[in-house]
Amino acid sequence: MMQRALFSRGALLAQQTSAALEGPLGAKSAPVLLRLDRSMSSVTIPPPACMLRPLEVPLRYLFGPGPSNVPPRILAAGSRPIIGHLHPEMYEIMNDIKKGIQYAFQTENNMTIAMSGSGHAAMECAVFNTVEPGESVLIAINGIWGERVAEIAERMGANVHRMVKTPGRYFTNTEIEQAIKKHKPVLLFLAHGESSAGLCHPVDGIGDICRKHDCLFLVDTVASLGAAPIFMDKQNIDILYSGSQKALNAPPGTAPISFNDRACHKMFNRKTKPVSYLFDMTHLSNYWGCDGKPARVYHHTGPVSGFFALRESLAILAERGLEESWEKHKEVAAYLYRGLEDLGLKLFVPERDLRLPSVTTIAIPEGYDWREMLTYIMKHHCIEMTGGLGPSIGMVMRIGLMGYNCEKTNADMALHALADALKNCKKSKA
Ligand code: GLV
Repeated sequence: MMQRALFSRGALLAQQTSAALEGPLGAKSAPVLLRLDRSMSSVTIPPPACMLRPLEVPLRYLFGPGPSNVPPRILAAGSRPIIGHLHPEMYEIMNDIKKGIQYAFQTENNMTIAMSGSGHAAMECAVFNTVEPGESVLIAINGIWGERVAEIAERMGANVHRMVKTPGRYFTNTEIEQAIKKHKPVLLFLAHGESSAGLCHPVDGIGDICRKHDCLFLVDTVASLGAAPIFMDKQNIDILYSGSQKALNAPPGTAPISFNDRACHKMFNRKTKPVSYLFDMTHLSNYWGCDGKPARVYHHTGPVSGFFALRESLAILAERGLEESWEKHKEVAAYLYRGLEDLGLKLFVPERDLRLPSVTTIAIPEGYDWREMLTYIMKHHCIEMTGGLGPSIGMVMRIGLMGYNCEKTNADMALHALADALKNCKKSKA
């Protein structure tokens, strides 16, 4: 078997070493000799042809729900030389990241870190650490993120209760309190930035309700951090997480998360160990220097370049200021709404104040195939916009203008591309 593989590979190489590969005098060139030599090796799987071609990455306008385009300053930070993940300089950078997240979240929580992984890593970390098998959790579902957390909690053996609304709708505090009274959960989940529906859920007062009923309040701000106000401490949010790739404009792969004292008390007084070793906060709190112990010991190898980039993105947010960033997202979103309405398009979330400023959802225009429109826009304008996600599929198209991408000129580009698609994509008679 091995011989046959070697033989056929040799024959292939013989064909390839035609005149084109030979030197001027018919002698084989050094690279060809090297390749022939390699053909005598013991490996039976040849190097894949794709790996012998250079990496190609197209330039695209990422005007979807994320990742968004990464500014040169953050790209440059991510390409700095690697240092060891346990070097003192790396700890300094991680300490800076912690401070940057505390600012972005508006929290003084000591237990504030960045996960090695995307927003999903933070989502799982929050649930795995604060909930034990058999405990009751309550999940507000009005888009994909609640569905996702419910599935995660179910997988780890929690007793999951779902409050469900159609995408784009929100839960009143009264509805939330009634459900908490009924199910007595140890944890309530709510997405502040529901990117699948384009909703920015009100948060005020919910943390107080949770405290009253001895329940932890877990909030997802992956799509809203830096784009819409959130005040972790003032709003009594017990666990808050986000992602790097949206308004923060870092590459995907790191995820800020913070736990307050109530959450720490619950997660560090468990009867069982969390199901995940990688996401166990006992270890992560030490890795991030949050547990008060003098030594940080090896747990896992963090994404060093990803942390450089995250630090830079948090530095940009700190230089700019949260309030200015929130204001800018609001202003550009309002500009986009006007343009969309001028095109005759309908915004999916009717209440203006509940729209997520970073990701705008448009009801699919009657008679059009949304997939065809999005494909047309990518093909002719190199712009990524997306359809819905989870329960909002077939209901919406989504435009994300986040952080670095949040400019009126980009809104104009998106509007121009949409106008072109409306003109040139088929419209059914139905
Ligand atoms: C992902 O975060 C999305 O909203 O599509």
